[in-house]
Amino acid sequence: MSSNVISPGATLLVTGAAGFIGSNFVRMLHERGEDRIVALDKLTYAGNLENLEGLDGSSRYTFVRMDICDADGVAALIREHRIDAIVHFAAESHVDRSILGAAEFIRTNVEGTRILLDIARGQGVRRFLQVSTDEVYGSLPEDRPEVKFTEQTPLQPNSPYSASKASADLLVRAWNHTYGLDTVITRCSNNYGPYQFPEKLIPLMIANALEDKPLPVYGDGQQRRDWIHVRDHCRAIDLALRRGRSGEVYNVGGDNELPNLTVIEDILSILGKPRTLIRYVEDRKGHDRRYSIDGSFIAAELGYRPQVEWKTGLRETIQWYVNNRGWWERIRSGAYRDYYEKQYAGRLSGGQ
Ligand code: NAD
Ligand code: DAU
Repeated sequence: MSSNVISPGATLLVTGAAGFIGSNFVRMLHERGEDRIVALDKLTYAGNLENLEGLDGSSRYTFVRMDICDADGVAALIREHRIDAIVHFAAESHVDRSILGAAEFIRTNVEGTRILLDIARGQGVRRFLQVSTDEVYGSLPEDRPEVKFTEQTPLQPNSPYSASKASADLLVRAWNHTYGLDTVITRCSNNYGPYQFPEKLIPLMIANALEDKPLPVYGDGQQRRDWIHVRDHCRAIDLALRRGRSGEVYNVGGDNELPNLTVIEDILSILGKPRTLIRYVEDRKGHDRRYSIDGSFIAAELGYRPQVEWKTGLRETIQWYVNNRGWWERIRSGAYRDYYEKQYAGRLSGGQ
């Protein structure tokens, strides 16, 4: 069934390579030692070259600072490196920021994807893999735990971020249908692991707990997410890239649906920190209550199952943030700070 279009030894353009998942993906491929990787990133607030430290100088790795909206630049890069496939991570990825202002989300996530699709088509790139999200499906009913997101669930995005990702997914679908571009879409649930920017729930809670600062819980903390270790997500993307079917969508989940409060309590318990650090704050606008992935399609088609058990993965992640304190302290003392003040202004007491 699967087409094996991208075999080991390919030359891959990885966009958003200096972000959380992109850098984990590049590291995974680099360790395997088979493909040539051209890592592209604009280095926005979320892109951090420290995430790719140690790869410089490798003959199988090149980093290029570029905006995916720079059509001429990207086209030249693809020509120069004879790119076989594009693995497209680059995006504005934080829901809270999209609520504060959507313009960059539309520019990068929608127009940026359109630009890459046109170049991929024009230059004969053999496969375009769109790294998408379960948030495109909207929110699941809380009183029907058996209902999960399948690939047939209608797209009902609720935030500017998820609307921009759903828009991009529809463009990918159309370029496949209209122009015959070979495309695959993956839609994954919430990732956690090393190198995640400390504005997302898990790294924010770890860093705040380590500094004995309050842990801001939105609303009642009973929103549910399906947490997956980034290593498992990267394995799924790799499988979909090599063996996924053109035109197909693959949902990827951790089989690990948990309320936010449980996630936070697990972090506090591993760190031996008190529950008194928890602060309930005003809820996110339009906050989706529940995400959960039905992973049976990718399991049947590609033999994929998540492997990292939650408590093991969380302990390992917490240890990484303990061992790499300088990494997140440098982020928190820099540009991150302005955003943080704006986002939490008036919502927290206790001295942030
Ligand atoms: P991230 O914010 O950590 O990384 C995004 C990267 O894209 C950054 O390095 C940033 O500098 C780069 N970027 C942004 N705009 C760019 C532009 N115009 N040109 C070039 N580079 C640009 O995000 P992440 O969590 O690693 O997510 C990566 C992808 O995976 C996104 O497409 C996101 O929608 C998707 N995704 C994320 C999750 C999750 O839980 N984090 C889950 C499912 C899907
Ligand atoms: O589901 C996949 C998506 O997961 C990805 O597409 C997004 O790129 C990624 O950011 C993530 O989106 P979420 O909005 O689910 O993740 P975030 O870490 O921002 O929040 C997780 C949950 O925790 C959510 O219900 C909001 C809540 N939260 C978050 C923060 C930052 C809090 O209660 N307090 C907080 O301070």
